[in-house]
Amino acid sequence: MPKSIPVLCGSITVEPYSFGVKIHNAAYRFLGLDYTYVCFGVGSAELAVQAIRTLGIRGMSVSMPYKQAVMPFLDQIDEAALSIGAVNTINNLGGSLTGYNTDYVGAIRALEETTDISGKELAILGAGGVARAIAYGAKREGAKVTIFNRSRARGTALADAFGLKFGGSVDDFRANDFSILINATSAGFRAPEVNPAEGKLASHLVVMDVVFIPAATKLIREAKALGCKTVNGTRMLIHQACGQIELYTGCKRAPYQVMEQALLDEIEKTSRC
Ligand SMILES: NC(=O)c1ccc[n+]([C@@H]2O[C@H](COP(=O)([O-])OP(=O)(O)OC[C@H]3O[C@@H](n4cnc5c(N)ncnc54)[C@H](OP(=O)(O)O)[C@@H]3O)[C@@H](O)[C@H]2O)c1
Repeated sequence: MPKSIPVLCGSITVEPYSFGVKIHNAAYRFLGLDYTYVCFGVGSAELAVQAIRTLGIRGMSVSMPYKQAVMPFLDQIDEAALSIGAVNTINNLGGSLTGYNTDYVGAIRALEETTDISGKELAILGAGGVARAIAYGAKREGAKVTIFNRSRARGTALADAFGLKFGGSVDDFRANDFSILINATSAGFRAPEVNPAEGKLASHLVVMDVVFIPAATKLIREAKALGCKTVNGTRMLIHQACGQIELYTGCKRAPYQVMEQALLDEIEKTSRC
């Protein structure tokens, strides 16, 4: 009998990318576990879930556009993922597949490293998948959440879904009404010259960005320069991966720092290409 049996984990997405691969494998190496994480580009959510069962893959990250599409093919869905309406993690325990959402876990862990959330006026820019996960988590932690979004229909739909306020378009955000600002739009992604809250920041705000390329976005750089406390998108990304690793391995705390270094190295490498 071998002492340890190699374990396969992975992610399903349309176009394979390297960030999850680097973060997860760095953690497994550090933990001394014989786990390997690979990224699969797939064309069908149903066939991808079937492959998890067939190949005995231990855990699978799920990227857009498959976060909703995998849900009908799982055996159970965790309550938070059901409320959010998206699964970014599939945990395979003895052939039974459970869907989770660790995006909200990552966002809340990252934010709570810097500030308490309960009772705070918190503005979310955006109403896409990530905004929805964060809105769920922030409300659950007791924040008073207001949604701002470019498209009114999508913004009001998110606000209505969780009983939150809708504040109008991103331009309608006013710093004086809030103590926490989270950019959950994709504005600024691979665009170091774009700040969705340009000219609207004030030093009392805690400012978080979900965008993680560049690691310090223009929003984060300008907030820091004003004296705001800031939370980079990389912190959310690593904390959501920590949540996955804790599910797949049963370890109590995934090794945040080695994962962060692996991510920052990869962002730097891909930014040079
Ligand atoms: N840090 C992490 O762990 C993590 C994890 C996953 C994703 N992300 C990042 O999160 C971002 C959002 O992802 P998602 O899945 O939520 O995307 P999504 O579902 O496509 O939603 C995109 C959101 O951004 C808004 N938006 C896009 N361009 C904009 C612009 N120029 N000005 C104002 N609003 C704009 C959209 O507004 P409309 O509704 O008006 O179109 C929508 O609210 C992406 O950059 C992604 O890379 C981060």
